[in-house]
Amino acid sequence: MEKFYLTTPIYYPSGKFHIGTAYTEVLADFIKKYKKLQGFDTFLLTGVDEHGQKIEDKAKDDGKEPKEYVDIQANIAVELWKKLKIDYDKFIRTTDDYHVKAVQKIFEKFLSQGDIYKGEYEGWYCKPCESYFTETQLIDGKCPDCGREVSKMKEEAYFFNMKKYADRLLKYYEDNPEFIKPEFRKNEMINNFIKPGLEDLCVTRTSFSWGIQVPSDPKHVIYVWLDALTNYITALGYTSENEELYNRFWPADLHIVGKDIARFHLIYWPIFLMALDIPLPKTILVHNWFTMKDGKMSKSKGNVIYPEQLMERYGLDATKYYLLREIPVATDGMFTPESFVERYNSDLCNDLSNLLNRTISMINKYFKGNVPQYNGTPNDVDKELEESAENTVVTFEKYMKDYEIANAIQSIWTFVSRTNKYIDETQPWSLAKEVDDNDLKEKNQEKLSSTIYHLTANLKQIAIMIRPFMTHTSDEILRQLGIDNNVSWENLKNYKELENLKVIEKGEPIFMRLNQEEEIEYIKGLMKK
Ligand code: ME8
Ligand code: MG
Repeated sequence: MEKFYLTTPIYYPSGKFHIGTAYTEVLADFIKKYKKLQGFDTFLLTGVDEHGQKIEDKAKDDGKEPKEYVDIQANIAVELWKKLKIDYDKFIRTTDDYHVKAVQKIFEKFLSQGDIYKGEYEGWYCKPCESYFTETQLIDGKCPDCGREVSKMKEEAYFFNMKKYADRLLKYYEDNPEFIKPEFRKNEMINNFIKPGLEDLCVTRTSFSWGIQVPSDPKHVIYVWLDALTNYITALGYTSENEELYNRFWPADLHIVGKDIARFHLIYWPIFLMALDIPLPKTILVHNWFTMKDGKMSKSKGNVIYPEQLMERYGLDATKYYLLREIPVATDGMFTPESFVERYNSDLCNDLSNLLNRTISMINKYFKGNVPQYNGTPNDVDKELEESAENTVVTFEKYMKDYEIANAIQSIWTFVSRTNKYIDETQPWSLAKEVDDNDLKEKNQEKLSSTIYHLTANLKQIAIMIRPFMTHTSDEILRQLGIDNNVSWENLKNYKELENLKVIEKGEPIFMRLNQEEEIEYIKGLMKK
């Protein structure tokens, strides 16, 4: 079985995650389930990034020891992923003993082979970002990443010799067109960071102690990004007594990261791996962000929305559908209460739920609940519909290959609309009308059977395709149609092979129409809280 190893970033564990932060995880979970349905041996890694000054400070604010603080915080993440039914295979904490040991080994290896050297650092430090900047990197004297105040700091420190690897990295980008998606991120890295000259990276701190110690010089702790990035291999047991998972799953097939942390993953991480002399991940996918009408989502602005809030009222599937559909990946998506309610009503209720309902009710009315058999000679309309079913799978797979997620999902809904249109074209209700002419009656009966058969086949197709991100809805569609939910991606290739199906007697709507005004107000209320 072919393997597929994918990762999310490890999260900063400090409080609740809003829908933007949760997006990375929802996206990864979708891709994992898709690959799994296709028959891959999948492994999804997630976890928390627990060291650094920011965490040390937060713990202090809370009157807690750092470890005590992160224990509570890590659990918040675990609980949320459970609610969102994230199917991860491992949850790593950077305070885990095996991780700490592995990071220390990696650091000492870099030191002994000369990639890390001791020097002195002076620069502008941004505490929330845990990053140093040079004078010229600052924007209006503030942090170029987050726009907050920076302060001048000087310390004895260890550096990683990034310069040494710059050319190799450029060559790697060039030789591996699949390495960075979307492609414009690569050009961003080259033009903004690599071409102007890579600075050596300061990889230790002495100004605080909540981190992994340098074994040979314990007053230094290892820079959180060196600590954090290596989680992708330490989680698999790299350098431990048991490297079985590492041997099976490395190199990663896919790292998924948000745009704010692209630089760390596209420059530093590959260079660390080169220095370790191990293969690089196949693809790093950089996704864009959720923004709000008034800009960035933030607690201080009071414009935050949490995934639990949407889920509790509208269900998990609607929430995931919205998230995945609204960020095109390569550009930002905007969360608005209006678009949420609109998508719910039009895509989920009008298009999908009604399609199922109309189909079930016609099967009951015209065929006593038994899906008629297909006679195998499609007319032109049916033929076109069958082609559209086939094309939808091809289109979906093509988009997924490039991780154009919103487009992939859009292609399913184009097919849903196409299927609804098919009902209007074939007009089953007039086919079912009593006719005097026997010949005509038989012909109409045949057409009606074919129509119902195709509608059922399409719904099965749709249920399979939405399964990786709308699992409950998929189960529901299959259950109402009387189809076993033990399905795989392979089933999409057997479009015309439906078993003898008996549908439920009365269809149950999978999505009920929302009162637009009321729900928009409701969501606005959540955002103000
Ligand atoms: O960066 N829209 O963790 P994190 C979309 N610990 N995605 C968003 C977002 C938004 N509005 N806000 C945040 C870290 N994210 C490091 C990672 S990995 C070795 C270390 C995404 O908790 C963000 O882009 O700050 C990232 O992918 C994820 O949330 C976690 O961010
Ligand atoms: Mg962040």
